[in-house]
Amino acid sequence: KITGIGHYTPETIITNHYFIEKGLDTSNDWIVERTGIHQRRFNKPNSGSSELSHKASLKCLDNAKLSPEDLDLIIVATSTPDHLSFPSTACILQEKLNCKNTPAFDLSAACSGFCFALSTAENYLLNDNYKHILVVGVDCLSSITNLNDRKTAILFGDGAGAVILTKTNSKNSGIIYSKMYSNGTHKDILKIPEGGSKSPINPEVTKNESHYIHMDGKAVFKSAINTTVPAIKEALNSVNLSTNDISYLICHQANKRIIDNIALKLKIPNEKVIINLDKYGNTSAASIPLAMSEFNDTIGFKKGDILVLVGFGAGFTWGVNIVIWE
Ligand code: COA
Repeated sequence: KITGIGHYTPETIITNHYFIEKGLDTSNDWIVERTGIHQRRFNKPNSGSSELSHKASLKCLDNAKLSPEDLDLIIVATSTPDHLSFPSTACILQEKLNCKNTPAFDLSAACSGFCFALSTAENYLLNDNYKHILVVGVDCLSSITNLNDRKTAILFGDGAGAVILTKTNSKNSGIIYSKMYSNGTHKDILKIPEGGSKSPINPEVTKNESHYIHMDGKAVFKSAINTTVPAIKEALNSVNLSTNDISYLICHQANKRIIDNIALKLKIPNEKVIINLDKYGNTSAASIPLAMSEFNDTIGFKKGDILVLVGFGAGFTWGVNIVIWE
């Protein structure tokens, strides 16, 4: 079950007007109408995902009334680690938290990262001798976004969210369903074309700006809806629940129109759909725990609430977790 939750977002607020002032051919009306985003946060230079993770994790530990030594495992879902490849951001976070000897690793599943990490943590708790696992979703997409490309620049922001998953014997609380999905045939619709092992970074790569996010927005939009709606139906079916039983739907915060479409197709009313992308944009692996944590801080979940978490993103990947809140 989830025994702690916390989030952190950087202080610097980037409004839609920032992009207009930068000379991008866009408008506040276009951005708000097509995405629902009003502003996002950008991390400060020389900070990185580990710093955001650290701040979110401290809040999460405080919320759980646990100390770093209580953690048996740290999983950090991110596509924007502090360093390319290694050391992992999870190891840097482990050092920052001062929990020596706790195994720690990063997990890469783009914007589905948090759902994949929850599923992974759940399996460690079911199969191994672990009691408390810290699961962090964090991204600084501002570091891999071409701020001169109006098709992507306006979408993304930076942030972190964290939960602690704790082993429980109760069958009626905590995570009651998790499933991860991937379809590599859609690998090209959202990607960073170069700068990896296939085509390492060099002056040509940077000149072509192919070390930044490239996206076929329409294809991603369609894939997001076409994959998640059947996955949510399958999830509810498997645990004998209906859409009426859902207390809150918490989708990856990519675009308000995508979330509205998913909710409409499942006939889930607006008041059950948690949205905070207007303030933070698409924070990738952070978006679901950030939306959950902020909601919990302000309005608050109640014991017994049924939360459906839905992630989707590059790969193409998607995933669903159903959680009964304690
Ligand atoms: N401001 C103004 N115009 C813009 C613009 C911007 N920031 N970005 C694109 N446009 C233009 C396009 O160039 C296009 O112009 P054209 O008709 O002259 O060619 C027009 O707006 C329509 O573009 P289109 O891509 O069809 O818009 P859209 O309605 O599909 O919205 C997205 C674009 C990116 C907002 C939308 O496709 C989307 O959100 N897709 C999913 C992205 C996502 O969630 N990615 C992360 C997944 S984890």
